[in-house]
Amino acid sequence: MNHVILEIADQIATVTINRPKSLNALNSETLSELKECFTELEGRKDVRVVILTGSGGKAFVAGADISEMVNATPAEGRAMSLLAMEAFSKLENMPQVTIAAVNGYALGGGCEIAMACDIRIAAENAVFGQPECGLGILPGFGGTQRLARLIGKGRAKELIFTCDRIDAQEAYRVGLANKVVPADRLMDACWEMAGKILSKGSYAVSVAKSVINAGQDMDLANGLRLEADAFGLAFSTHDKQEGMTAFLEKRPARLTDF
Ligand code: CAA
Repeated sequence: MNHVILEIADQIATVTINRPKSLNALNSETLSELKECFTELEGRKDVRVVILTGSGGKAFVAGADISEMVNATPAEGRAMSLLAMEAFSKLENMPQVTIAAVNGYALGGGCEIAMACDIRIAAENAVFGQPECGLGILPGFGGTQRLARLIGKGRAKELIFTCDRIDAQEAYRVGLANKVVPADRLMDACWEMAGKILSKGSYAVSVAKSVINAGQDMDLANGLRLEADAFGLAFSTHDKQEGMTAFLEKRPARLTDF
């Protein structure tokens, strides 16, 4: 892969988008590589948390690659959008927990790929925004849908219509960032959260993720039914027996299912 670096250690995969000269802008090649990378990761049993970040210290991802889009036809624009949507949906629905380590600009497609992650941890210098309407287009990698679901329709419309950029603290205030940390502590903060999640039942975490995701597209009654089914299924696992027995025996649990 030319523009994506994958490193795996201690059950944590770090995926780094690596086009620093273009502030990690997403061209079609990078999107295809991300799709390939997420396809590999979703099948790996030795990876339980995925951290996504950008290289170069200035940007997480500054958006889709404008130099590629400037001469694109409508069909090419649509194809690029569908490619990104396929890659980002894989990221959103993989069994592992995904954390975006937002280390600078997360604009347009950068904000959109961060929103496809389960959790966003922002460095103090992070900047979020959807500048597409200023370029005569609209968000095309999921922004109209995921931003409204994350921060509400009114705030999403304001950000998309005005193209305002917001800093990390404002992103935290509106619920776009889960937490804000000093830039030099960003990766440590992601690893700390990953460690906390790894200490829990991985099967339970993974099923909780998929029930939360599926429930977003259901009415409450069906979402609750799905939760009850998944809750019941968890009673068939080793982890449930071990977790509850360990509690009653006042000892740490050894949870191993994934
Ligand atoms: N696409 C292509 N190249 C980009 C880029 C992008 N999205 N963002 C930055 N770059 C390139 C610049 O062209 C520049 O290249 P050169 O050195 O060859 O001139 C290099 O990265 C550094 O950028 P700047 O000189 O502009 O750096 P800056 O510090 O002055 O500004 C910035 C940083 C505010 C992020 C600015 O680069 C910028 O506004 N970038 C574009 C942001 C944007 O509009 N993103 C949305 C794209 S559309 C989209 O994403 C659609 C969608 O929904 C999928």
